[in-house]
Amino acid sequence: MTNTLESGELRRVLGAFPTGVTAIAALGEDGRPVGLAASSFTSVSLEPPLVSVCVAHTSTTWPALRGRDRLGVSVLGAHQERAGRQLSAAGQDRFLDLAWHTGIDGAVLVTGASAWFECSIEQQIRAGDHDIILLRVHDVQADHDVAPLVFHASKFRRLEREDFPV
Ligand SMILES: Cc1cc2nc3c(=O)[nH]c(=O)nc-3n(C[C@H](O)[C@H](O)[C@H](O)COP(=O)(O)O)c2cc1C
Repeated sequence: MTNTLESGELRRVLGAFPTGVTAIAALGEDGRPVGLAASSFTSVSLEPPLVSVCVAHTSTTWPALRGRDRLGVSVLGAHQERAGRQLSAAGQDRFLDLAWHTGIDGAVLVTGASAWFECSIEQQIRAGDHDIILLRVHDVQADHDVAPLVFHASKFRRLEREDFPV
């Protein structure tokens, strides 16, 4: 069957689904932090503890991350939109003026984020023009006082402080 769906249109409509923004990062072979911003982070399994992120085949940063023992996943806070922009930008030091710290075995975590996951790569699954990266979670931490940054309709946004029962 011919696929008549235009990818720009799909991207625009997918933008109606709000997500958080994560930083996937680790110390590279030279000991410097490498990473990228990713909004495709999602929960997968509690037992065993698994999360996932989808990475484009065009990513030039993923090859430097995929061989590392541990990857840090930081859920960026509402005040960290500059970090979100910087961690996706081309041709500059993505960690310039960014506060970060290391976890176990080289995971890089963004300081001041809403939550952190320290992960290892469990499986990589080819899926169209992306790979689904299944990550095993070894350690977690959250600061529930830090509101998350939201990515919606190609913009960074903040949550309104209004709660409804689920
Ligand atoms: C808000 C936001 C979310 C993004 N989410 C993803 C994602 O889930 N997967 C992905 O491969 N790239 C994502 N990107 C793009 C990467 O951050 C990065 O720009 C891209 O990988 C190209 O850089 P690289 O060649 O250094 O990997 C996102 C960018 C932004 C600004």
